[in-house]
Amino acid sequence: MTVQIITIDGPSGSGKGTLAAKLAAHYQFHLLDSGALYRLLGLSLHKADLLESLSNELSKCIEIATNLDIKFQSTATGTQVMLDGEDVSQTIRTERVGEYASKVAAIPELRTALLARQRAFAQAPGLVADGRDMATSIFPEAQAKIYLTASAESRAQRRVKQLQGMGLDAKINDILANIEARDKRDMEREVAPLKPAVDAYIIDSSDLNIDEVFQLMTRYVDQQLAN
Ligand code: DC
Repeated sequence: MTVQIITIDGPSGSGKGTLAAKLAAHYQFHLLDSGALYRLLGLSLHKADLLESLSNELSKCIEIATNLDIKFQSTATGTQVMLDGEDVSQTIRTERVGEYASKVAAIPELRTALLARQRAFAQAPGLVADGRDMATSIFPEAQAKIYLTASAESRAQRRVKQLQGMGLDAKINDILANIEARDKRDMEREVAPLKPAVDAYIIDSSDLNIDEVFQLMTRYVDQQLAN
């Protein structure tokens, strides 16, 4: 049986995470949050005191990336993420760990070290894969490829709400500056830069709510999966 794959790529704060989870529930597919893998690796390398010397300590970093002890568990309220047996679900969502992840994501050898782990998520009946390079590098064979974007300002506003909802402190200007810096790094890096696949369906969610985006997505995905 072929595994059907839906990819959702785009910048941070575009609503990808929420929509990927909604699509996975709708089609009863597995879910890959590839950003979480980069965040987990960033946190692990920070704990091992290697984040400042990624290039000099590359083989140690690759070994840690290859052997990451992580577990994703679905719960009533979302997904619980475990690293080395510790619940890091909240920690990995902080801006600080987002910065670690962005550093790690710019190193080609570390991206390669996470490749097999990402591809292993492709299991029957299907997968929704959320990230930056899902369509362009990891799953080029995907039946449905979505690129979800939104203006930096609307993404910053959403991120502030999301962080405040988690009880975390958030200032709009800091978040906007972070988003712009991260976009630049993600789009300009040499390996697997953030960009739409040539055959991607592009959605700009700046002026759309979640339900409107979800409708556009399911209409497109239904067509693609029927082909
Ligand atoms: O989507 P996110 O904010 O959780 O991603 C965290 C960082 O990881 C972000 O800087 C981009 C990077 N990333 C990546 O380079 N490739 C992916 N497939 C997913 C995330």
